[in-house]
Amino acid sequence: MAIRQIRTIGEECLGKVCKPVKEMNDRMRTLIGDMWDTMYEARGVGLAAPQVGVLRRICVIDVMDEDPIVLINPEIIEMSGEQTDDEGCLSVPGKVASVTRAEYVKVKSLDMDMNPVIIEGEGLRARAIQHEMDHLEGILYGEKANEPYRDLDEDEDFMDEEYIEE
Ligand code: NI
Repeated sequence: MAIRQIRTIGEECLGKVCKPVKEMNDRMRTLIGDMWDTMYEARGVGLAAPQVGVLRRICVIDVMDEDPIVLINPEIIEMSGEQTDDEGCLSVPGKVASVTRAEYVKVKSLDMDMNPVIIEGEGLRARAIQHEMDHLEGILYGEKANEPYRDLDEDEDFMDEEYIEE
């Protein structure tokens, strides 16, 4: 497995609608493995395939307090409640902004064997799912934020704070 280059805001791949995964094969397995490596190396809590330049409907998420999840061709089938908090993105380095999201989501997805699975999340996990799934539609969180991007305080480690708060 390998670390892939994370694409940043302004690059065309981040604004595209991604295509479904049709079959699980070595190429997809390598991509997903590389996405985990890339996400952990960058100390992120989630990564979507277009962030490494691949326009497929795949996300990986690890909010540390629960099992890591891979989403393949995910669809939100239920959402409820509301939460508002700062969000960041590996593709928008050094920035944060407040985003209002559903507090709870239920997602229909496929697992690594392309079997259907239902994944639920609330709080940070639900936020991460919604954020990563937006990437599959070519949407960055800034487009849904309640304010313009703000500079992340240099001394502040946003993701570590998120872990602690949750
Ligand atoms: Ni992101």
